[in-house]
Amino acid sequence: MGMSDTALFMGQLLRRPHQIVALAPSAPGLCAEMTRELDPARGPVLELGAGTGNITQAILASGIAPEACHSIEMNPEFCDRLRARFPGLNLHQMSAGECGALPLRNVQAVISGLPLLSMPIGLQRAILGGALRLLAPGGEFVQFTYGPKPPLARAVREELGLTWRESAKIWWNMPPARVYRFARTQSCRMDARTHRG
Ligand SMILES: C[S@@+](CC[C@H](N)C(=O)[O-])C[C@H]1O[C@@H](n2cnc3c(N)ncnc32)[C@H](O)[C@@H]1O
Repeated sequence: MGMSDTALFMGQLLRRPHQIVALAPSAPGLCAEMTRELDPARGPVLELGAGTGNITQAILASGIAPEACHSIEMNPEFCDRLRARFPGLNLHQMSAGECGALPLRNVQAVISGLPLLSMPIGLQRAILGGALRLLAPGGEFVQFTYGPKPPLARAVREELGLTWRESAKIWWNMPPARVYRFARTQSCRMDARTHRG
């Protein structure tokens, strides 16, 4: 019999604690909140840090077709598990810092299970900058956190002109968590267009 997702997660947590930074895979209530606003009619979804696939499962359960779901995971053991669990998924075994290089456009939402706040600020900047390049206008970067503050360095939020919405606390998760939805303000989107043009 194969190893359970929880056993695989715990084993990798012991080997690579700084990459995982969570006590257990996300619980169903948190996965549901992360994916609540997805719409199969609105284009592809990009997932960052898929782990053993609990949030991936919720993305697919929301009606997103496997071919419209792109998941990035850098841990090779987790990638083996994801390939076995979701045969049609577009799995990219790479660092989320390179996500801007993916050949994707008009992504409706980026769903991130990354330990973003514990990453160096340069990596946070690369991840958000890449994600914003792929997002459709009005698209959101969805990120959970266990802590009391927005899960993205203030400097990066300010540089990119991000605003956010915050969910109620999800108690049935270990530890309890909150979901943040970051988006670019309209004026910053216009600035970005001006600079590009
Ligand atoms: C907190 S776990 C979340 C796993 C899963 N999404 C969940 O919610 O149960 C963080 C995941 O991000 C992955 N990760 C960490 N840094 C990464 C990076 N730079 N690029 C891609 N994946 C990364 C880890 O390997 C791990 O699978």
